[in-house]
Amino acid sequence: MDQQQQSKRLAGEAAAKLVKDGMKVGLGTGSTIYFTIMRLIERVHEEGLRIQCIPTSESTRELAERGGIPMTSFASVDHLDLVLDGADEVDPQLNLIKGGGGALLREKLVALAGDSFIIVADASKQVEQLGEFPLPVEMVPFAYETTLRRMQAIGLSPQLRMQDNQPFITDNGNLIATCHCGRILDPAALHNQLKAITGVVETGLFVGMAESAIVSDGRIVWEVTR
Ligand code: A5P
Repeated sequence: MDQQQQSKRLAGEAAAKLVKDGMKVGLGTGSTIYFTIMRLIERVHEEGLRIQCIPTSESTRELAERGGIPMTSFASVDHLDLVLDGADEVDPQLNLIKGGGGALLREKLVALAGDSFIIVADASKQVEQLGEFPLPVEMVPFAYETTLRRMQAIGLSPQLRMQDNQPFITDNGNLIATCHCGRILDPAALHNQLKAITGVVETGLFVGMAESAIVSDGRIVWEVTR
């Protein structure tokens, strides 16, 4: 396991300790939360931990269900005690770029339902300013070409995300535009500009949402708060 993997594992497993018996938990997506989910699976079986979870993607649902973690849905619950999720970039104010795995819409819906939204990350995700990681923007397939042109009109250079030579399709049946922004001076303003474009469903900018971040460099784990 290389150092980044080890960092993800330490942060992911530390985050699993935040889950208490009886909690309703939002489970994020990605290779860091993978370690959280694996630890929760162990806790469910070894300690009899009783939790109900809502996943942020079909891949997380599959992993957690296969491991025996009980699932629920927004038909049955209106809020979650705790939401744990990864991030692609975390700035000092805990603003985030998320959606590297294409799950940003469900991730945001689940995060918004959380009483507490905590990021789990390896130290490489910490940045002074967001924007080096290409910003994912989810958009409806219909007329996506015009949606991309409208993004260009506000100064972005969006590219349609591809997978195996086909457009990448999200769990919601949508497309992803990837925007190389460089440095995002005002994440909230950029988010609002993008959301004003008809055809854009959601952006990967999570501004003022995370309460804290559990971070590891592969040796130690620390918590960052706003
Ligand atoms: C998924 O869409 C993302 O928001 C992930 O949470 C993010 O990409 C972090 O993923 P890793 O934990 O795999 O780095």
